[in-house]
Amino acid sequence: MSVDLLLGLQWGDEGKGKIVDVLTKEYDIIARFQGGPNAGHTLKFDGVSHVLHTIPSGIFHPTAINIVGNGVVIDPVIFKQELDKLAPFGIKFEEKLLLSKKAHLILPTHRLLDAASEAAKGKAKIGSTLKGIGPTYMDKTGRNGIRVGDIVLENWKTKYTTLRNKHLKMLEGYEDKIEFDLEELEKVFFEAIESLKQLPLIDSEHYLHTAQKEGKKILAEGAQGSLLDIDFGTYPFVTSSTTTAAGACTGLGIAPNAVGEVFGIFKAYTTRVGSGPFPTELFDEVGETMGRVGNEFGATTGRARRCGWLDLVALKYAIRVNGVTQLMMMKGDVLSGFDTIKVCTSYTTKAGTVDYLPFSIDPEEVSPNYIELPGWQEDLTKLTAEDEFPDTFKQYIAYLEEALETPIKIVSVGPDRKQTIFR
Ligand code: GDP
Ligand code: IMO
Ligand code: MG
Repeated sequence: MSVDLLLGLQWGDEGKGKIVDVLTKEYDIIARFQGGPNAGHTLKFDGVSHVLHTIPSGIFHPTAINIVGNGVVIDPVIFKQELDKLAPFGIKFEEKLLLSKKAHLILPTHRLLDAASEAAKGKAKIGSTLKGIGPTYMDKTGRNGIRVGDIVLENWKTKYTTLRNKHLKMLEGYEDKIEFDLEELEKVFFEAIESLKQLPLIDSEHYLHTAQKEGKKILAEGAQGSLLDIDFGTYPFVTSSTTTAAGACTGLGIAPNAVGEVFGIFKAYTTRVGSGPFPTELFDEVGETMGRVGNEFGATTGRARRCGWLDLVALKYAIRVNGVTQLMMMKGDVLSGFDTIKVCTSYTTKAGTVDYLPFSIDPEEVSPNYIELPGWQEDLTKLTAEDEFPDTFKQYIAYLEEALETPIKIVSVGPDRKQTIFR
C-alpha cells in the first residue's frame, strides 16, 4: 500500500493539523517525519481547540496509530507537557503513540544555543521559535547528536554529559551571555526522559515497512511549509529540516516509489511568522484585517503572523518541488468582505518578468505583479456544500485550479472539523 503525504505549501500554519485530523478516519497510521516542537498544529472539534507540537494530529482518533518518525527532533520536556495536557482525554498513549529510536533529542543546551545564536545575529536573526531546532539538526548532521534509542543504553548519561559540555563551551564563545540555571533545566529534562521511556520506542522504518506490506493506510504529516525548507525555502530564513516531499522519504524510511497521493495545503492568502522575504506582504489595513479575522497568531510562539495576498509564483514552485496531486484550500472565509482579491502571478526582476521563484525574493530583487478578482461578501463559515458557495468564491477556486493545474479537493471555511467541504 502506498503512503500519502500532506504538506504545507507556504511558510507553515496552512492548517495541516486540522486536515490531518479530518482525514485520519481514512488511515491506519499517521506519521510525523520532520520538524519538532517548532510546529504548532491546531485541531478543533466539540467546541475545543487543541494545539499539538510533536504528537501527530491523528492522536484523537480511537484506533489510529501515531508515529513520531526518525526525521523528527524531540524535546522530551515539551513532549511531556503535551502528554500531560492530553491526559484528560483518556488517550491510550502506550498503544497508539510510537517513537522512532532514531529520532534525535533536543537537549536543554540546544535551546540555549538557539537563543544565543539568535541574539548574536541581532537584526539578521532568523526569528526562530527558540526551541533548539537548528542546533539539534546541526548536531545530527555533524554526527554528534543523541537519539531516542540512546536513552535506554548504559552509557546514556556519559553521552549526554559529553554533548552538554561541548555546548557549554560553545555558549562561552558568545559575547552576549544567556542566563540559565542548568541544574533546574536538567532536573526537568531527566524527569521528562523517564516519561519518554514509558512509550514504545521502535524501529519505525521497519514498523512502517511491515505496515505497508500488510496493506495498512499511512498518512505522513508534514510540519512547517515548503518555503521554510532547508534547500528550497527562502534561505537562510528557513527551518533546518526538509519540509518537502523528499523529507517524508528520509524522515520515515519510505521509498520514493511508495509515495501515493501528495496533498498540498495552502491558505487562500499568505502568512509568515519570523523574519525573511515575503513579496506579497501587506502593511496596510487589508493585511491588518486578514490578521485580525484570520486570528493570525503563532500556535507555538503567539507572535503575530505577517499577512499578504496569495502568491502563485511561490505556490507553483511548491507544487512542483513536492509533486502535489491534490490541493486543499484553507481560510477562504477570512477573505469575505473585500471588494476585490489580489493574486500575485509574476515578479518583476532586474532581468525582466518571471513566473518562477528566482534565487532571491528579497524586496530589492523582486516586486510582485497582481491580477484582481471580484471578492465575496457572504459569510462562508456556515456553508456545508460546494453548491452554496457564492459565485465569486467559485470563480476564485476555478481560477486557482486552472493556474495551478491541480484540483482543489478540499475547501475549508473555518477552524472546526465540520467546516470542511470535500469536492
Ligand atoms: P498548521 O501549523 O498548518 O497545523 O496550522 P496552525 O494550526 O498553526 O494555524 C492554522 C490556524 O487556522 C489555526 O488557528 C486553525 O484553527 C485555523 N484554521 C484552519 N482552517 C481554517 C479555516 O478554514 N478558516 C479559519 N478561519 N481558520 C482556520
Ligand atoms: P507549523 O508546523 C510557521 C519558522 C520560524 C522561523 C523559522 C525558523 O506549525 O506550520 P525554527 O524554530 O524552525 O528554527 O525557526 O521557521 N517556523 C514556522 N513558521 N509554522 C511553523 O510550523 C514553523 N516552524 C518554524 O518562525 O521563521
Ligand atoms: Mg502551525
